[in-house]
Amino acid sequence: MSEPDYTPVPQHWDPERYARNARFVAQLGQPVVELLDPVAGERILDLGCGDGALTLALAERGVTVVGIDSSAEQIEAAVDSGLDAHVIDATDMPYQEEFDAVFSNAALHWIKNADAVIAGMWRALKPGGRVAAEMGGSGNVKQIREAILEALRRRDIDGSRLDPWYFPTPDAYKARLENAGFIVTHIELIERPTPLPNELQNWLDTFAEPFLSVVPEAERPAFKDEVAETLAPDLLQDDGTWVADYVRLRFRAEKPAGDAEAGAARA
Ligand code: BEZ
Repeated sequence: MSEPDYTPVPQHWDPERYARNARFVAQLGQPVVELLDPVAGERILDLGCGDGALTLALAERGVTVVGIDSSAEQIEAAVDSGLDAHVIDATDMPYQEEFDAVFSNAALHWIKNADAVIAGMWRALKPGGRVAAEMGGSGNVKQIREAILEALRRRDIDGSRLDPWYFPTPDAYKARLENAGFIVTHIELIERPTPLPNELQNWLDTFAEPFLSVVPEAERPAFKDEVAETLAPDLLQDDGTWVADYVRLRFRAEKPAGDAEAGAARA
């Protein structure tokens, strides 16, 4: 008998569901805005802008900001907020030396081809430009990921090949940035246990779609309850709040002012 076809669907972003279950992502993004240190008049690219909540915050600091995201639904929401935002694949960005800075919050961990994104950031930046970004880092949602994989294993599904997330160590990401020509001026891994606004099951719906998609629809509620039951002893607080085991990788890197060709040759 042939194996069932467990082809995952890619993650998709429903702006209404995102606003309900994931507003905290932008709310907790303030430290990376501070790391960026935007200066009024600068032209900044927000890579993976989603519905534009932080893009708006940057615009309010007096910069000209362009948002890009692979989700047409999220970009529609960003454009509805009055932003200059476009559906663009971050591994294939068209920009050439036109931005003073690239900003990114909670997007880079969705992109497995990190080198293609980094090469695109390099090309997009003017000489002397900078990147300030935060993403999931090594160990991010480790317990949640393990509970999902375990629940899939109980159904004879190998979830590791469905895994949509890339959570690098500081050393690994720093090496990629340096290989592209960047000078890394700051990189740190930060444990940030993160209270969720709703049940863990809502988080799974919002962020773990490729895993859920291989479970027959009728069985998904039971699947999510099973994952939640495994995690409750560690992640569910006495007051009923779920706290996700987030670990952030936050960094700032610079494109040297006089070395544009060296990096371009590497990219
Ligand atoms: C995060 O922002 O850390 C994250 C987002 C989606 C899935 C897992 C982690």
